[in-house]
Amino acid sequence: MRLSGKRIILGISGSIAAYKSASICRLLISEGAEVQVVMTESAIQFITPLTLSVLSKNPVATGMVRPDQTWENHIEKGLWADLILVAPASAQTLSAFAEGRCENLLQAVFLSARCPVMVAPAMDHDMYLHPSTSHNLAVLKSRGTLVLDTVTGELASGLYGEGRMQEPETILERVCLHFSNRNLPLSGKTILLSAGPTREPIDPVRFISNHSTGKMGIALAQALQESGAHVILVAGPLQRPVPKGIEHVPVETAAQMLMECLRYFPGCDGAIMSAAVADYRPVNPHDQKLKKNGAELNLNLEPTADILATLGQQKSANQVLVGFALETENELEHAQSKLERKNLDLIVLNSLRDVGAGFGTDTNKVTLLFRDKKTVEFPLLSKDETARRIVDSFIPLINANA
Ligand code: C5P
Repeated sequence: MRLSGKRIILGISGSIAAYKSASICRLLISEGAEVQVVMTESAIQFITPLTLSVLSKNPVATGMVRPDQTWENHIEKGLWADLILVAPASAQTLSAFAEGRCENLLQAVFLSARCPVMVAPAMDHDMYLHPSTSHNLAVLKSRGTLVLDTVTGELASGLYGEGRMQEPETILERVCLHFSNRNLPLSGKTILLSAGPTREPIDPVRFISNHSTGKMGIALAQALQESGAHVILVAGPLQRPVPKGIEHVPVETAAQMLMECLRYFPGCDGAIMSAAVADYRPVNPHDQKLKKNGAELNLNLEPTADILATLGQQKSANQVLVGFALETENELEHAQSKLERKNLDLIVLNSLRDVGAGFGTDTNKVTLLFRDKKTVEFPLLSKDETARRIVDSFIPLINANA
């Protein structure tokens, strides 16, 4: 049991996602955690305290004063917990946390806490995207609150968009990761990783793509996670399953990949761009399937945005950026100039001339080039081992910025 002996306060605020808090409570208990539940008045409208007290095997606290007129000691609760998990965290609760308000028991417990606090936001699309909410989340992150991302999907309002709370199983994984990762070299770090190919539509049934399978990207995701990082994987269609606990943001086109990378990069400590992004896309994809008529067909292509170079322009002094280069001639020279042009800290060079390296194989042979022109050449290794060696070289760069 991964949470044996861990004391967790499960805070529940007023959102329809509160019905999932019962599952979260059960999952925490099944991993051996001791759970005390604190609910806001509006959470009680969505799920009964009785459900949570049966599941947590503890009385549920809902106000500053108990029904028997005794005082609910919020300070004691704040000191008792190893982690406060607020799931769902409504827009209202996040705003109160960011402003330091103390209008209910959950807010008082938050202010008294000496332990880490993790919040799983849940709200409607427009509320989530409102600048006030973004600001509140940024304030909380800057003060060390662990903010889980929301997922895109169907919302209770009937709208489709961002703001759905992460599923209970994912939240459990994040809690377990939080406790298991504390002493690893990338503990507390969030790393953005791009992987796989992109697909650039020609018409509704055809696209331009490449041979990338995403194997190297998945191996990197795993190596980063094993080193304690929280990994956000923005990936085109992958031919391998994404390991548990990795935040997977699926995309298809280079434009979508750029948009998602730009969204997540500011909140990350570093980024590794291993995706094989299409360099060109059809100018005007056809709405209908192109019919063959026996004549020649010309496709007009335009360049896609260079995601890595865009991140290189936006990179702050304490972020680390790693790119890949697949070269067929003058490899070292081309890779070094790419590193400088795209403002990278490290570039991983693959040569298609090496047997066993490149797309689809289980092995790879890479050379690392650093900003100070130092190079490190690895022999032919499995992609998993190559990924571990890349991450081993990445860790000192991240920690140099800490
Ligand atoms: O310039 P070149 O395509 O060789 O650079 C390869 C590196 O740039 C890889 O890290 C790849 O993920 C990234 N890249 C990108 N966006 C593009 C093209 C490449 O992020 N449009």
